[in-house]
Amino acid sequence: MRITLRLIVSLLVVVSSVAALSAFLQARQERQRQQEELERRSLLVAQSLQESVETLLAKGSSQRLQRMVEKFGNHERLAGVAVYDLKGTLLAATKSLALLLETAPKVATDSMAAGKDIGRFKVLGGRQMHLHSLPLRAEDKVAGALVIVHDAAFIQSRLSQIWRHTFFRLLIQMILISLVTLLVVKWSIAGPLEQAAEWMKKLRTGQISGPLALPKGDVFAPIAKEVTTFAAHLSAAKSAAEQEARLRERAESLWTPERLKEHVKARLKGRPLFVVSNREPYMHIRRGRAVEAIVPAGGLVTALDPVLRSCDGTWIAHGAGDADWETVDGNGRLKVPPEDPRYTLRRVALTKEEENGYYYGFSNEGLWPLCHIAHTRPTFRAEDWAHYQKANQRFAEAALEEIAGVEEPCVLIQDYHFALLPRLLKKKRPDARIAVFWHIPWPNPEAFGICPWQKELLYGMLGADLVGFHTQFHCNNFLDTVDRVMESRLDWERFSVTKEGHSTMVKPFPISVAFPRAFQDILPDEAPVMDRAALLKDLGTKARFLGVGVERMDYTKGVLERLRAIERLLEKYPEYQGQFSFAQIGAPSRTHIKRYHDFLAEVDAEVERINWKFKARDWKPVVYLKNHHSHREILPFYRNADLCMVTSLHDGMNLVAKEFVASREDNDGVLILSRFAGASRELRDALIVNPYDIEQTAEAIRFALEMAPEERSARMKRMRETVRENNIYRWAGNLITELSQIRREPKTPVEAA
Ligand code: G6P
Repeated sequence: MRITLRLIVSLLVVVSSVAALSAFLQARQERQRQQEELERRSLLVAQSLQESVETLLAKGSSQRLQRMVEKFGNHERLAGVAVYDLKGTLLAATKSLALLLETAPKVATDSMAAGKDIGRFKVLGGRQMHLHSLPLRAEDKVAGALVIVHDAAFIQSRLSQIWRHTFFRLLIQMILISLVTLLVVKWSIAGPLEQAAEWMKKLRTGQISGPLALPKGDVFAPIAKEVTTFAAHLSAAKSAAEQEARLRERAESLWTPERLKEHVKARLKGRPLFVVSNREPYMHIRRGRAVEAIVPAGGLVTALDPVLRSCDGTWIAHGAGDADWETVDGNGRLKVPPEDPRYTLRRVALTKEEENGYYYGFSNEGLWPLCHIAHTRPTFRAEDWAHYQKANQRFAEAALEEIAGVEEPCVLIQDYHFALLPRLLKKKRPDARIAVFWHIPWPNPEAFGICPWQKELLYGMLGADLVGFHTQFHCNNFLDTVDRVMESRLDWERFSVTKEGHSTMVKPFPISVAFPRAFQDILPDEAPVMDRAALLKDLGTKARFLGVGVERMDYTKGVLERLRAIERLLEKYPEYQGQFSFAQIGAPSRTHIKRYHDFLAEVDAEVERINWKFKARDWKPVVYLKNHHSHREILPFYRNADLCMVTSLHDGMNLVAKEFVASREDNDGVLILSRFAGASRELRDALIVNPYDIEQTAEAIRFALEMAPEERSARMKRMRETVRENNIYRWAGNLITELSQIRREPKTPVEAA
């Protein structure tokens, strides 16, 4: 039953009970009063007649007696009078009563017997009558009775009237009470409660946040106050819980150096990590008389140095710097980074011929153009191949020295310089967990098939437990190639290859950068980065807009195409002449190779041509900085540029794109990114271009320069989130997790031998 109904029913029950009780008492009182009044009247009438009747009775004059009683009857409420002798015989009676009182009523006989007045009610002729009997005396003896009869039905009708009035009064009261109750409940209870419920609902669904407003002094006002306070506490608790959950979620999803360190410790059960690459993370070079440590340009070093810094371990690499051997101990080892030693660098020495054949020759004139579809013909020479095998052997020996005594060592081999190394290591140390990560693309089987030693390369790689690429597409190309070339079992569901009883997993691990948690992470304890005005002054150009490109000068990077797109922009939209300058940082790379040498000359000529074409006094369209730049030197370019151009013709990932995004703490700047770079799969908010399409790239530059600040910021924020989440620590964490989960096959006698 609803509360309103319950309230109304309860009120009605109480009110009607009270009304009924009071009506009952009133009726009883009224009856008593009327009866007493009747008695009194009867007595008066009886006493007024007594003497006359006694006289006539004594005379025995019944006719006169009859005449006298005739006068009474139907007189007000007096119904009549009757007179009886001592025997109860009717002597005279009012006509209307004669028949009804023929025999003396009991009241008459009783009063005669008692010798005193008695009054009683009795139904006569179907009506309620009051009979009052007075004993008549003769000579002091009772000689008869005088009965005065009053009609008493009026008492009943009076009582009925009282009850009727009570009923109607009650009915009106009930209606009023119900109405008032309904209104009171609606206005004072249901209304505020509905209002409070609505408020709570809105609060719950986050549509409002203000207090519950009920009229001041209202019965619910104290509750409203409490509920508001309670809601405020709840919402504070809720937002604290959300915040905590966000932080927890973030902490769980965000990989940090500390997390990677703990992860690696747990996964490798405290054993050290080993990395093998051709390029070393710190190279000592001679500058005049001084020896300087530089960080070589290239994505591999950018990516892996933070990993080793966080996990410790040993990085085995070619000691290529002209002062490298002056800074190592007797075993070719030193602690790096030089300013804050965290891990061991083990340098491997190669002769000039070995370096020429293995690094410049087979790796960079053979495999590099083979894997990058950039229209530079690969060159394969037998002597280079021999050096490549020898160098892999040399690195295998160094790595075996380093892992000696370490049970189940975890070795991460980097890149195309070491396709043979996994098998060489596995042969000697079948207990080692070996991964090879291929930092460059893997072409389709037809393209790869032109390599005369493709079988040997694949066989070498399949000595690893895990082969990693940046994208699934490259994994598929690799598996297709293996399928074409090797006798092996391919599992396309697990993406694995089994050859001679040994299984190799093939998986994508998109590499990244160490997303700095704060700017201070990049440049601890150092002066702030140069601002835009100082930078442009340094560059010797005056411009409203600044673009930047950062490259190791490689023909795969699409630098010529980029320069042509800049030229096209300035031709097509002359309003940008004098307004837009492009700074191209280009670290010379592999310059002993003719193609690279020629490429540098081509870029020089192209920059020269464009600058000449648009020659102006204070403004240069392109500023070409053709030397090695440290990260600290590159940072002001990233941070002050309106746009960054990454126009690779083919690229495994491209970490310049990710570094630019990571350095834009201001959420500004536009990234123009080649669709042929692996990074374009992740950085969807870049302006994706086909670098061969000069018109499209020129339009992308204009679009970037004219993009609304809100859009720039929204795009940059999303890209930063992607890079923050998918940082280098996650890459390393995933790689090591995968490698540590691989089940090692039991040693075979051949392998053990
Ligand atoms: C690419 C390769 C790396 C290489 C880097 C720099 O990123 O994948 O293996 O280290 O270029 O090239 P360099 O020949 O100077 O080592």
